[in-house]
Amino acid sequence: MPQEEVDLVVKNACQLLTLQSDEKGPHRGVRMEDLGLVSDGAVAASEGLIVAVGTTDEVIAAISVGPQTTIIDARNMVVMPGFVDPHTHPVFAGSREEEFELRIKGASYQEIAASGGGIRSSVRSLRQATYEQLIELARPRLDRMLSFGITTAEAKSGYGLSLTDELKSLEVIAQLNREHPLDLIPTFLGAHEVPDEFRQDRQEYIRLIIEEMIPQVAERKLAEFCDIFCEQGVFDVAESREILTAAKEAGLKLKLHADELAASGGSVLAAELGAISADHLVFVDERGIRAMAGAGVIPVLLPGTTFSLGLDRYAPARRMIEAGLPVALATDLNPGSCLTESMPMIITLACLGMKMTAAEAITAATINAACAVDRGDSLGSLEPGRRADLVIWDMDNYKVLPYHFGVNLVDTVIKSGRVVYRQGRFFHTEA
Ligand code: NIG
Ligand code: FE
Repeated sequence: MPQEEVDLVVKNACQLLTLQSDEKGPHRGVRMEDLGLVSDGAVAASEGLIVAVGTTDEVIAAISVGPQTTIIDARNMVVMPGFVDPHTHPVFAGSREEEFELRIKGASYQEIAASGGGIRSSVRSLRQATYEQLIELARPRLDRMLSFGITTAEAKSGYGLSLTDELKSLEVIAQLNREHPLDLIPTFLGAHEVPDEFRQDRQEYIRLIIEEMIPQVAERKLAEFCDIFCEQGVFDVAESREILTAAKEAGLKLKLHADELAASGGSVLAAELGAISADHLVFVDERGIRAMAGAGVIPVLLPGTTFSLGLDRYAPARRMIEAGLPVALATDLNPGSCLTESMPMIITLACLGMKMTAAEAITAATINAACAVDRGDSLGSLEPGRRADLVIWDMDNYKVLPYHFGVNLVDTVIKSGRVVYRQGRFFHTEA
């Protein structure tokens, strides 16, 4: 019986990593090692969705191709789902390389923040930038993400810290999501820091977040998540509980920057409030690990931040995997603590700094990352009915990914069944 013609076939992949699993949800424990690898694999897609996955023979037998079908020969290449980056701050203006150099000379991230630099410095820059300028600044960052195999990213506000500038940042994310092939999932991060004008009256800033920002953000549907920097010297656990409870009541899902610089209790709070993820977790303790495991909170680890802050302590990924937590990975792209769009670099750091295997790190950056942004049913694995977001790698086995670092081995990126990047060129609007 003739089947319907498909739009795209990628075939002959020496390794196709499907990340398929019989169980729903994120992959935990030893399941993080199982990439659902098919040798000589193929994927076919129609109307943006996957319609067949298997060996090349199986897929070719199951589909029909016509003159409109794009056929890609992935001989000697690895094919896997597009990365989901579940933690990024891509909307910012200005640049903080002077702080990078100060840290090299011995200043700490906290010292720089306390003296008025850090996040507050980026807030001053963003407030001076127009909506159009912010779009122009963010677009090349999204292009770079795409070129490193990221096909969906969470994107936070958090450098505005006034009603107008937070809404402006979220509108920028909404516009970029419309115009750029990368899918963006918006997060409101008004509680990223206390801005200069409220340093003497932080209660008033918290009131502004709760009574003005959250209702407007929710009403205009500008964010799906609300996040907070829960840390000593930023927002403590009681303040974080108050803000996040208001966000939850307004219908936002929750995320926390938790236990990044000290064991501040953010991971326990994430569990208490039913947050979807707790992020950073460099200083998470056993209590936090147990609480997250009990409540189903996904730990999103950001090893690029430890690396770029010049620190030597990484989040205890092995302990978390042992405790049955489904570890996810993200770039944390931001102008202060981690300026990178490279998920492959993050995977290398996860392997070297946190002793994750290549397979665990790939699981963490695909299916587990998809679950960390509540897209576990549609992204992060190659299965019929899921979005046809794929990366084709110029490597003959996936273990090369962390091993060959500091270069871009992405050959082709496919978003919703369309080639959007190939061998250094972007195809944003053409097929
Ligand atoms: O995830 N920790 C807080 N927020 C960012 C850094 C923000 C900045 O320094 O601009 C992070 O590391
Ligand atoms: Fe962050």
